[in-house]
Amino acid sequence: DEVRVFAPATVANMICGFDILGFAVDKPGDEVYMQRVGNPGVRIRSIKGDDGRLPLDPDKNTVSACVMMLLAHLGLETEIGVEIELTKHMPIGSGLGSSSASTVAGLFAINTLLGNPLTKDELMPFCVEGERLACGHGHADNVAPALMGGITLIRGSQPLDIINLPVPDQLVAGIVFPQVDVPTRDARQLIKEKVSLKDAVVQWGNIAGLVSGLYRNDYELISRSMHDVLIEPTRAILIPEFYEMKRIAMDSGVLSFGISGSGPSVVAISKGFEAAQLAVDRIQEHLTANGIESLQFVSAV
Ligand code: HSE
Repeated sequence: DEVRVFAPATVANMICGFDILGFAVDKPGDEVYMQRVGNPGVRIRSIKGDDGRLPLDPDKNTVSACVMMLLAHLGLETEIGVEIELTKHMPIGSGLGSSSASTVAGLFAINTLLGNPLTKDELMPFCVEGERLACGHGHADNVAPALMGGITLIRGSQPLDIINLPVPDQLVAGIVFPQVDVPTRDARQLIKEKVSLKDAVVQWGNIAGLVSGLYRNDYELISRSMHDVLIEPTRAILIPEFYEMKRIAMDSGVLSFGISGSGPSVVAISKGFEAAQLAVDRIQEHLTANGIESLQFVSAV
């Protein structure tokens, strides 16, 4: 009566698809260990790797709150007791879907312990609720790839309509996290509510091009399409050295470069590992020379 679940970090938006595209990486990711206990209720035994930033109070912690929500939905909240140990292997507020990974791991764990009463599709709305609790907005572009794996398209959110897209087999993501805090809530408040039709046309051309490129395994088309004219110009100001990092990445031969989720992490997409690795090494060198500490993660998509 115990289970250990890993859920991966995710790169939301996939550069041009704000709130509708996202992909999972192999590493890093968060782990939830969950054990059935006799006493009904949901308790958090320990949280590791969060520098003491996450609440242990089960009503305030997103993971336990989501587990309670699921138990209540199944009418089991007065019958079932579980205790949770959460281990975070990635920084909070980094743009890597940190809260989503924990939420997805927690919900997957309770569903497994109960003998899978819900399918993955049925779990998804609870994951989205977790995202809403964590940052005030229920977008699915981190939780969907964290739960489903690969690249996901959020075709619609009411009702949820999630489509798994093909993953070209040499697609690699090189991620750099410059160690400044950018809470998703703040990064969302910054962006404009209205966009111009001209920019919208460019953006949806790019999204359609990217999706076609994924189906055709066409890295050139993927590269041409992964540009964001709507969100990046506004959010780039929150990220130190953004345009210099972009120049370095493109000079290293990657297909595309942009913000991971709501930042401050940035992502270089490449064909094969070499260019992504070169890009993140050079970016880190540049950040260090400018007194900015950073972490890097390179992983297949
Ligand atoms: N699509 C979201 C955003 C992802 O860009 O705000 C952040 O988790």
